[in-house]
Amino acid sequence: MTLRIGFAYNERSAEEAEPPSSAEEAEPPSSRAAPDRYAEWDEPATIAAVEAALRRRGDVVRLEATADFPQKLRETRPDIVFNIAEGLHGPNREAHVPAICEFYDIPYTGSDPLTLALALDKRRAKEIFRARDVPTPDWLVATPETLPRGEIPLPAVVKPLHEGSSMGIPDRALCVSEAQVRRRVGEIRELYRQPALVEAFLPGREFTVAILGNDAAARVLPIVEIRFDALPPGAAPIYGYEAKWLWDRPDAPLEIFTCPARLEPRLARAVEAAARGAFHALGCRDWARVDVRLDAHGAPHVIEVNPLPGILPDPEQNSCFPKAARAAGIGYDELIGRVLDVALERYGLPR
Ligand SMILES: Nc1ncnc2c1ncn2[C@@H]1O[C@H](COP(=O)(O)OP(=O)(O)O)[C@@H](O)[C@H]1O
Ligand SMILES: [Mg+2]
Repeated sequence: MTLRIGFAYNERSAEEAEPPSSAEEAEPPSSRAAPDRYAEWDEPATIAAVEAALRRRGDVVRLEATADFPQKLRETRPDIVFNIAEGLHGPNREAHVPAICEFYDIPYTGSDPLTLALALDKRRAKEIFRARDVPTPDWLVATPETLPRGEIPLPAVVKPLHEGSSMGIPDRALCVSEAQVRRRVGEIRELYRQPALVEAFLPGREFTVAILGNDAAARVLPIVEIRFDALPPGAAPIYGYEAKWLWDRPDAPLEIFTCPARLEPRLARAVEAAARGAFHALGCRDWARVDVRLDAHGAPHVIEVNPLPGILPDPEQNSCFPKAARAAGIGYDELIGRVLDVALERYGLPR
């Protein structure tokens, strides 16, 4: 019998397709108008590539995750939903599609609503890392009113509590003084209408770790290193908004990734252990990408978990999960197929 696959996604329309020329364009202050609010939605090319990969495995029904997603899902009742939808509204937006699938008792790929909502709340995620002994840098959460004096870890990276895709993390998110932190916390409130996470800056090497599979069978793909020496001179050593969306363009790609990362076996094992620890601590399923950075002593710490990892299909475009998969000899279509397979297996469904 042919597998019927529902494909859930959010697509960037043409007018949203171009990233703004600066991360902090003058915009009326409201989270709806934040200059980078569509950054996390997928481009038509990505959606077409995932769809093509899924077609090799069964019949595919597109279920764009817009307001009528529940009705469309209920009418189609696919055997499984392949989910890459980033969601529409609010801090729990990534959890909505999986929650609706659960409501109709329809299997879906990837993490469940709890994990997706947790991962998008960087503070809750860090609290769980701490409780589970997954190393993560010190932090505090603050609004302009509650920012304490004299207790701020410095230097610090200041970011919105509920964003991803480097939204709200421009070059000047790296703050070296309390005054800079104070200014940035105020800006985050203005633009994103949310508290800020003020996190101790990790000055060491940065890696991102793609994980595929479940439980003890979760497999770590070759580690990707992010090389800050590829950034323009004077740029802060962070993989923030400018690096991700402005300086790295299809016509002039930034040579910022090395995969597999060149790592001593002992350090590689430590980075993998931190990434695996974070994956399991948040209860990730099927796949996720974990951002890890070394502290001043060379010890790995987890920055965040991405349970809906970016998957740009074009190898020229720098997308870490497909890059790590390629380094393991897994092509794009095979990667999508494997995510589907581990999900089917998890539900006890035939492939
Ligand atoms: N505590 C930190 N120390 C050092 N660099 C950081 C820290 N937090 C974030 N960064 C830098 O900013 C980038 C984006 O931060 P991250 O928390 O991963 O946000 P996003 O969800 O937008 O990817 C990271 O890849 C890293 O380069
Ligand atoms: Mg990140």
